[in-house]
Amino acid sequence: MLKLSQINVNYDGSRILRGVSLIVPEKSLVCLMGRNGVGKTTTLKAIVGLVKPESGRVELAGTDLTGLAPDARARAGLGFVPQGRDIFPHLTVWENLKVSLAVHGTPASEVERVVELFPMLKEFLQRKGGVLSGGQQQQLAIARALLTNPKILILDEPTEGIQPNIIDLIGDTLLKLKQEGRISILLVEQYLDFCLAVGDSFYIMDRGAIVAGGAIAQLNDEIVKKHLTV
Ligand SMILES: Nc1ncnc2c1ncn2[C@@H]1O[C@H](COP(=O)(O)OP(=O)(O)OP(=O)(O)O)[C@@H](O)[C@H]1O
Ligand SMILES: [Mg+2]
Repeated sequence: MLKLSQINVNYDGSRILRGVSLIVPEKSLVCLMGRNGVGKTTTLKAIVGLVKPESGRVELAGTDLTGLAPDARARAGLGFVPQGRDIFPHLTVWENLKVSLAVHGTPASEVERVVELFPMLKEFLQRKGGVLSGGQQQQLAIARALLTNPKILILDEPTEGIQPNIIDLIGDTLLKLKQEGRISILLVEQYLDFCLAVGDSFYIMDRGAIVAGGAIAQLNDEIVKKHLTV
């Protein structure tokens, strides 16, 4: 489904990503893990077109996305939920969702389907995004990305700073989406138990490179100690 090959990224002349290659198979949930500052967000930005790699290739379902602008990649099927969520604080929940509909020509009836996944949002459609809790904003950001009708949903640390009951809700929702079989999911996450609960496979990054990977059941204590614990 999504394939990254040998992505190299520089910031200000220093190499931040070193030959990053990874695959997200169809209908699966892949966790990309690693300590702070190792290049997880930069990898996602290279996928969605927000940073320009020096070299390497990004493919979605066999289509080459390398060199396309972010909006073209979104239309090709990449749905992105950025770190820190990035919703419009002065627009209502409904207006935040409507932006997605307008950009992607999604029918308004789809809002019904997506808010079913997040009952809290349904109650708060007329509330300003900025007054929602962090967990509610995260749900809004996910709902908004889903309304672009993506082939793959890409999330950057959706559990960061979120209370446990909402983390559970987000986990259940990702599992439900995966089981529906319509999308694949690439999840950047530092919360190990969350990855173990929802992931099918994992990659671990260290200093800009992929240093481990495999089926989620292969994520053992030794790997965790070496690459994840601080
Ligand atoms: N715009 C930028 N300009 C220069 N350096 C940057 C920029 N963005 C990130 N970096 C550097 O690139 C490296 C990787 O950053 P990145 O944000 O990809 O890490 P991360 O794994 O997502 O970290 P975190 O877990 O803290 O979110 C870091 O050393 C960071 O300081
Ligand atoms: Mg990050």
